Amino acid sequence: MENRKLAYINTWGCQMNAHDTEKMKGLLSLVGYDFTDKQEEADLILFNTCSIRQKAEQKFYSTLGMMKALKQKKPHIKIGVTGCIAQQEGDNIHKAFPFVDFTVGPQNISMLTDALEYDSYVSLITENKQLHTNNLPAIRSDQRRAWVNIMYGCNNFCTYCVVPYVRGRESSRPYGSILAEIGQLAEANYQEVTLLGQNVNSYNGGCPFHTLLEEIQKIDRLKRIRFVTSHPKDLNDELINTMATHNKICKHIHLPLQSGSSRVLKLMNRKYTFAEYIDKVNRLRLKIPDMAITSDIIAGFPTETTADHKETVRALTEIRFDGIFAFKYSNRPFTKASQMEGQVDELVKSERLKEILELQDNISEEINKRMEGGTYAVLIEECTDTTQNLYSGRTQTNKIINFNSPRQLAVGDIVDVKILNGYRHSLDGCIVNT
Ligand code: 5AD
Ligand code: SF4
Repeated sequence: MENRKLAYINTWGCQMNAHDTEKMKGLLSLVGYDFTDKQEEADLILFNTCSIRQKAEQKFYSTLGMMKALKQKKPHIKIGVTGCIAQQEGDNIHKAFPFVDFTVGPQNISMLTDALEYDSYVSLITENKQLHTNNLPAIRSDQRRAWVNIMYGCNNFCTYCVVPYVRGRESSRPYGSILAEIGQLAEANYQEVTLLGQNVNSYNGGCPFHTLLEEIQKIDRLKRIRFVTSHPKDLNDELINTMATHNKICKHIHLPLQSGSSRVLKLMNRKYTFAEYIDKVNRLRLKIPDMAITSDIIAGFPTETTADHKETVRALTEIRFDGIFAFKYSNRPFTKASQMEGQVDELVKSERLKEILELQDNISEEINKRMEGGTYAVLIEECTDTTQNLYSGRTQTNKIINFNSPRQLAVGDIVDVKILNGYRHSLDGCIVNT
């Protein structure tokens, strides 16, 4: 039998990173690796890192620190750092942790297997202008739902964000290769695709984003289309109309607001005012009344006053998002905001974040409670208890539903579920016999 090695991959961060891990697995498999979730038995340990906030970075460094003893015990194993911290820090990682064998940036994944060939430390973190033409093989974590890159990088330079510095300039993948990949996925029985990009609605790989969605809708057998993340400045009426008229496009949009204060939005370089944002939300809801809208909020951006914070609170009350991800502002290297005067005290940030999260939890709960008694199509994602036929899945609007069934169901199938109870972050129900 072929002598295959074992790789262990620890992944942090967003869906983009999770999908990068799938591609790294695809590449490693070609050069003789299988995968393990037991670090102790691995020949190769990879950390696919995230640097969006300081907390993520700190967690990574403390995990990496623990590798020293393992490497001393088993010097033959290779330890590599990939992802956004690799790009951001480069050789600094090796200087602080000399047992690290290589760093590979998110734009250089295709060179991962080259890094394994070196006997001494190597760092592959160059800008890759051809990233959008890479079609790397992937070993996917799910058999029915798939991530598909449609663009890489970001040109927006929001003043708090490290992404443009670590993921490089925006480049769209040609639509032909996206459609070919999704066509193959549909043939292989995938039901749902999630299109990935930092700013998907500024896609320009040969056609506008809404046209890309219309072409994907035509792919036989595929049932659901999702996409993340959309930038409010690029949300136009064409996209809203396409979402309204194409049944495979899920009625959910993640539309980061960041702040309810137009003054802060300007400092963030978001390129919209709160009034413009709410106008887009209203247009969306007018055309698609059952549209779920989720968002990201940053608490305590430099110079944020109590009055600015109150505007964010008011915005949440007015818009009533289905859910949000909210974070304390975190200083990031290279960014303009890290140089700004008026950094907000950590305690103040924490208090503001708490108020934001509590308010949103109540709103989410109210929205979810209103779904009680209704019946929704749910794509089954997981069997949570095989003995009792308990399942978990999502509606088109991205709500997580836990439900039971009198008979065994298959993960990936779409079934009708009646909602019994709505909670803050999930709902429960029972299957409707059809
Ligand atoms: N501090 C806090 N949150 C941030 N985000 C991005 N950069 C920072 C930062 N420096 C948040 C934004 C973005 C989400 C992915 O992460 O809300 O939409
Ligand atoms: Fe960061 Fe702004 Fe680009 Fe999103 S759009 S990745 S927040 S710079």
